[in-house]
Amino acid sequence: MDSRTVALIRTTFKAVAAEEGGPEKLARSFYAILFTDYPQVRDFFPAAMDAQRDRLVKAISYALDRLEEPNKLLPFLAQLGRDHRKYGVQPAHYTAVAVSLKSAMQVYAGTEMWTDEVDRAWDEGLKIIADTMIGAAEKETTPPVWTGTVVERREVLRNLTVLRLQLDQPMQYAAGQYLSVQIPSRPRMWRYMSPAVPANANGEIEFHVRGVLGGWVSSAIVGQTAVGDQWLLGSPLGGLGIPRNTKRKMLMVGCGTGIAPLRAQLMAMAQRRTNPKVHLFVGGHHPCDLYDLDTLNSLAVSNRWLTVTPVTEHDENPWWYTDSGELAPAYPGLEPLVTGQIGRVVASFGAWADRDVQIVGSPSMVQTTKFRMMAAGTLTKNIRHDPLF
Ligand SMILES: Cc1cc2nc3c(=O)[nH]c(=O)nc-3n(C[C@H](O)[C@H](O)[C@H](O)COP(=O)(O)OP(=O)(O)OC[C@H]3O[C@@H](n4cnc5c(N)ncnc54)[C@H](O)[C@@H]3O)c2cc1C
Ligand code: HEM
Repeated sequence: MDSRTVALIRTTFKAVAAEEGGPEKLARSFYAILFTDYPQVRDFFPAAMDAQRDRLVKAISYALDRLEEPNKLLPFLAQLGRDHRKYGVQPAHYTAVAVSLKSAMQVYAGTEMWTDEVDRAWDEGLKIIADTMIGAAEKETTPPVWTGTVVERREVLRNLTVLRLQLDQPMQYAAGQYLSVQIPSRPRMWRYMSPAVPANANGEIEFHVRGVLGGWVSSAIVGQTAVGDQWLLGSPLGGLGIPRNTKRKMLMVGCGTGIAPLRAQLMAMAQRRTNPKVHLFVGGHHPCDLYDLDTLNSLAVSNRWLTVTPVTEHDENPWWYTDSGELAPAYPGLEPLVTGQIGRVVASFGAWADRDVQIVGSPSMVQTTKFRMMAAGTLTKNIRHDPLF
């Protein structure tokens, strides 16, 4: 794709997305057009379209932003295409999505900006996206969905549950990847979750789930999941993970359930003979928000390449926390607790120029940490995180 075509797509998209509430308005208009002109696709989508309405549009904009980086874009689209098999999406549906998105864009861009050349540029960009997703889906031989039966649930914090599931067949994912899950009480509301253990031949998998206030799916998982529940799981996604034989040292920064994909990678590394040095910063608001310290402590004690530093914004538990008057007990494998905002704490060590960096947590935590690290001199190309949608 030539640079003029890319520039035309970017300019028109930015003109729409930069407006106040632009992406949200675009998503609303896109779905209105899609469901009116192609009513047969309505059933793929959840009944309640209020939450996460803009994920599909955000993903398309994420892809359009990377049209000139095929080595990043194509694997991302191929994974999405394989994952979209869970919806039963057929090639014709991609035309419906492309036509509806273009119509929605056209409304906002106005006829003056939407020239024939712009129209052709969008056709070309959307064709690359659709062809890559369709091609990868057609070639894939793994199942479109796995079934996982909940075999254990454990509340580790108020509002944070560890769940273990037995898959109907093993899934090959790289430690650090995520996948989408659908629970029985929330049909068609797929949400991303990150396995907290590496893939294994027995098909055992673990998730750490935090209930988000007012969240459709996470609060149902934390509040209602019972042993025996059957979940559906889509194909693995994401590019976090430590390549074998890498010599680059690593820096990992995780908050809340962001620990899950980091711990899965550390567990996978612990099975290797040699590893580069890894420093993990694990964060929470209060000391009582830190969880899974036993596992991290054991990993650090038995693997000299690993350093783990707990970080909390406050040095004391909140007054209403009554489970124990104590802070987290001392763990010999962990560095002493540091107090401060995690991005600031990590950046206070310098630019970490010799490290590959992974940041995992809520979108705002990822953005703030990345911002602080870049201000301290860390190169963007050394920082990795999952897409924030
Ligand atoms: C790559 C990736 C991996 C993820 N892995 C995990 C995981 O391992 N464990 C886990 O518990 N969650 C994980 N999440 C978040 C998860 O996918 C859901 O977004 C989250 O559980 C909220 O879903 P919901 O249906 O409860 O909320 P929704 O009903 O979709 O949203 C309700 C409200 O909560 C807000 N909201 C949505 N997500 C978050 C969030 N993460 N933090 C704060 N506010 C939010 C929304 O903006 C909205 O206002 C991951 C997300 C991504 C993108
Ligand atoms: C054009 C390329 C497309 C891209 C880049 C894309 C990307 C995405 C992404 C990232 C999500 C969010 C979560 C998930 O993966 O489940 C999503 C959701 C979804 N997509 Fe796509 N998609 C595309 C095309 C399609 C098509 C053709 C269909 C079929 C009509 C479709 C149906 C869906 C459905 C049903 C959801 C769930 C929406 C929700 O949970 O609210 N997508 N898409």
